[in-house]
Amino acid sequence: MSKKISKICCIGAGYVGGPTMAVIAQKCPDIEVTVVDINAQRIAAWNDKDVNKIPVYEPGLSEVVAEARGKNLFFSTEVDKAIDEAEMIFISVNTPTKTYGKGKGMAADLKYIELCARQIARVAKNDKIVVEKSTLPVRTAEALKSILHNTGNGVNFDILSNPEFLAEGTAIQDLYKPDRVLIGGDSPEAIQALVDVYACWVPNENILTTNVWSSELSKLTANAFLAQRVSSINALSELCEKTGADVNEVARAIGTDSRIGPKFLKASVGFGGSCFQKDILNLVYIAKTYGLTEVADYWEQVILMNDHQKRRFADNIVSTLYNTVSGKKIAFLGWAFKKDTNDTRESAAIYVADHLLNEQAEIVVYDPKVPEEQIYADLDYLNTRSEKENRNLVTVVNDPYEAVNEAHAVAVLTEWDEFKAYDWQKIYREMLKPSFVFDGRALLDKEQLKGIGFEMYTIGVGEEQ
Ligand code: UDX
Ligand code: UDX
Ligand code: ADP
Repeated sequence: MSKKISKICCIGAGYVGGPTMAVIAQKCPDIEVTVVDINAQRIAAWNDKDVNKIPVYEPGLSEVVAEARGKNLFFSTEVDKAIDEAEMIFISVNTPTKTYGKGKGMAADLKYIELCARQIARVAKNDKIVVEKSTLPVRTAEALKSILHNTGNGVNFDILSNPEFLAEGTAIQDLYKPDRVLIGGDSPEAIQALVDVYACWVPNENILTTNVWSSELSKLTANAFLAQRVSSINALSELCEKTGADVNEVARAIGTDSRIGPKFLKASVGFGGSCFQKDILNLVYIAKTYGLTEVADYWEQVILMNDHQKRRFADNIVSTLYNTVSGKKIAFLGWAFKKDTNDTRESAAIYVADHLLNEQAEIVVYDPKVPEEQIYADLDYLNTRSEKENRNLVTVVNDPYEAVNEAHAVAVLTEWDEFKAYDWQKIYREMLKPSFVFDGRALLDKEQLKGIGFEMYTIGVGEEQ
């Protein structure tokens, strides 16, 4: 008989921990779920009386939080207390790519995970099931086990790997109806306890159980395959532009092959997000560690292609604007790494902006959900120029029409639906002539905009010759 879980603690109230725990609480009313974080400001935002002020923007999330918060869903900074009381602890802290030392720029930085493990070991007074939810390099569970078993005071810890496959922007739907839930572990009782939690709403046939290593590697592999599809279609987008083909037509044609499938074939200015690049770098690092040079090189190419795509989008803006953007105003529509999220981690917009700022462009950004301070923080983090220069060259506005006013060019960086509905006649009237639009998401109706008078560039769409 597996243990019935009545209290769950989740360490890390971010884009993964927050939505996942909110849905567990909503779907399992008998389980008390406490999400803890060392970031007091973030916890305060999760507890904001105005549920629209929670720190993660996801369609449908505020409704779930409104329903469960205060009943069986709690957000707190009291990490020790929550660990002590819970029978099951999810670790959902950030695992960024290392910025120092061995594996710099490639390996995942596990210091936050390790700190959590040590804290759990110090606090726990009775047996716990510890679930790794963050994306981690293969064999992290072993490190966790070693820390917990060697520092714990006689308490038994079962370690499970339960990678999260939700995509931002669709997190709630992905959590409600996951393609699969994956649970890796070696204790059948612990696995069953977690299966029972998900079984509150996920059909049994969608819950897969494996050993820990397969589960950890599956998460990296899934993200690597998805990113590879984007780089593959992006590679073709450049060829289409040169030859007069349309990458969207090519994508539709190949997507009807059931072996290929239609999803994840949208050419873009480049993939972003907290996972794809980090997970591939991780895979490359692991492969190199085992001396598998060809394997490492194969996957690294996915990232090189993505860097190229961002770079060539920026270069094309410069060359089209008569080889100089110095002092020219370029309006950015979108800063988030995809629509329906306020997350900007690794967003293509950051890198395109950085290239254009090196050419002394003046950038005005409008994004429906990303706040000004985040945009400056993203640019400052690159360390390419001083904070003062970033603020001199980049302006953030709350009105798209203000962004385009007297602009030389508009660049679409995120595929927000609202951009399609804008009054493009009015935008044309307010821009300098010739008015250029660089559509990095193939979002806008190219022929319609050309009809208005715009000079159009659409990613992956060549001019017929
Ligand atoms: C391929 C295309 O499938 C077909 O649409 C096109 O018209 C011609 O090229 P074919 O070469 O006949 O067809 O066979 P296919 O089933 O695609 O297999 C090609 C090779 O890939 C084989 O050597 C096969 O063993 C190998 N393969 C295929 C794998 O190693 N693993 C797989 O999962 C699938
Ligand atoms: C991804 C995985 O999809 C998810 O399963 C995992 O849990 C976390 O990483 P996420 O990064 O939130 O999710 O979003 P995703 O929809 O995968 O998009 C990633 C990036 O690829 C975005 O920048 C998106 O714009 C880009 N993309 C995606 C394309 O450019 N073209 C596509 O066809 C699909
Ligand atoms: P993800 O996308 O993986 O959810 P985020 O960065 O959005 O990543 O969230 C991770 C959260 O984990 C952050 O809010 C961070 O403050 C929190 N965190 C990191 N280390 C600890 C720790 N030792 N204890 C509690 N919270 C932590």
